[in-house]
Amino acid sequence: MAKNPKVCVVGSINMDMMTTTNIIPDQGETVLGESFTTYPGGKGANQAVAAVRLGAEVIIVGAVGEDEFGKSLKERFKKEGINEEAVDVIPDESTGVASIILSNGDNRIIVAPGANKYVTPEIIKKKEDIILASDIILMQFEIPMETIEYTVNLAYEHHIPVVINPAPYQTIPGSIIQKVTFLTPNELELQALKKSANYEAICGKIIETKGSNGVTFTLPNGEKKTIPAYPAKVKDTTGAGDTFNGAFVAEYAKEKDIEKAIQFANAAASLAVEKHGAQEGMPIREAVIRRMQEADNKK
Ligand code: ATP
Ligand code: RIB
Repeated sequence: MAKNPKVCVVGSINMDMMTTTNIIPDQGETVLGESFTTYPGGKGANQAVAAVRLGAEVIIVGAVGEDEFGKSLKERFKKEGINEEAVDVIPDESTGVASIILSNGDNRIIVAPGANKYVTPEIIKKKEDIILASDIILMQFEIPMETIEYTVNLAYEHHIPVVINPAPYQTIPGSIIQKVTFLTPNELELQALKKSANYEAICGKIIETKGSNGVTFTLPNGEKKTIPAYPAKVKDTTGAGDTFNGAFVAEYAKEKDIEKAIQFANAAASLAVEKHGAQEGMPIREAVIRRMQEADNKK
């Protein structure tokens, strides 16, 4: 396997508009908050940043609008060393925006998809060569479901592993789940997935992230295993799941060792929650290794 795995992220690109507040308004109520900041975000973009910082070669397939947010987010990819040639600029459309309310370190998010709606199967067809040159594909649910289905089928035909972070949750056809290598729901997404899919048939593919309770997955012998979260000084959990996914894929593509990759991603995500903004706290490889060693030394 390649030393620097080639990761292709097919996903969303947003500008995050984050307001911090001690009081969350009720319907019809106005409150005074604490602060406002814009951060680069979008689950696709965040996961791409997490993977590239950890040493993967990353290409992102997505779309931004013809506006200042789009321009600056594309620039940001270049600075991170992410290949952004497959990010289309959609005329007369705005870049995706996430309105985030951050209160006590936890978030409430509304995404207005904007250009992310235009990441269609036709776009995937046009970028097929790029996608098929990757070692692993990572997707989330902020782009149209038909695109996810098309890409999973394409990857399956070409024996390329696919990881899906089913967030925000939408129903996914069972025939598509069968072709996915891993699904990484959080606890709420797993509850929804259990209602719409035959859980017993797919439990071997599920890596459940559980916030400060770590990660649960199924060993090849059918036994469930939970890897506890690393202790963290939490400031903002936005992007914790994205860091986990980007890190998991970057590590799994190298050695195909699921447990090692989960352990690594768990440590990476624990560092990400220690800074505000989805991408600001995403660590480089050395920081993750240090966190794992420090935890080992305390045992
Ligand atoms: P988000 O949508 O906020 O990005 P999520 O709901 O998709 O996150 P979580 O399950 O909350 O995902 O978190 C993903 C991973 O991040 C966890 O499995 C864990 O590894 C790490 N993590 C999250 N919260 C904490 C925490 N408080 N302390 C340490 N690690 C954490
Ligand atoms: O997972 C966090 C991300 O979800 C934010 O960056 C926001 O853009 C939304 O897509």
